[in-house]
Amino acid sequence: MRSFFSIVSLGVAGFFWVGAAQGQSTTGLALAQASNCMACHQVDKKRVGPSFEVIAERFAGQEAAVPYLANAIIRGGRGRWGAVPMPAQPQVSPANAQLLAAWILSLADKRAAKVE
Ligand code: HEC
Repeated sequence: MRSFFSIVSLGVAGFFWVGAAQGQSTTGLALAQASNCMACHQVDKKRVGPSFEVIAERFAGQEAAVPYLANAIIRGGRGRWGAVPMPAQPQVSPANAQLLAAWILSLADKRAAKVE
């Protein structure tokens, strides 16, 4: 009986572990979708705004890129990529803006891998 329970609890723990790992890889995109970013942005193509991959490339390797982009996400801006301005996104919390900025920056590696 005891071994039966330990097998069940292992199974449950494994289920949660896999769930958490999958959740992590989709967090950035899911958060961007939930935050209305994808109305104007795409990961790999220009839409109203620049693609997230191109943004990641511009800021790759810059130490202050996460706080800079987190701020740019909340406040919006103009004139950095073209004529169309990005409106401020006050619905995004500072913590989520940091997560989004870090996720966008992580896309630079993905693009580099694709080019190879
Ligand atoms: C209404 C359209 C629109 C929405 C919604 C929008 N963006 Fe943008 N975004 C733009 C445009 C247009 C630009 C280019 C602005 C410029 O040239 O300065 C931009 C630029 C950016 C940049 C680059 C900033 C820089 O300084 O280089 C980031 C990062 C970004 N957006 C992230 C986001 C995220 C994350 C969200 C969701 C919370 C979001 N955007 C929602 C249109 C939008």
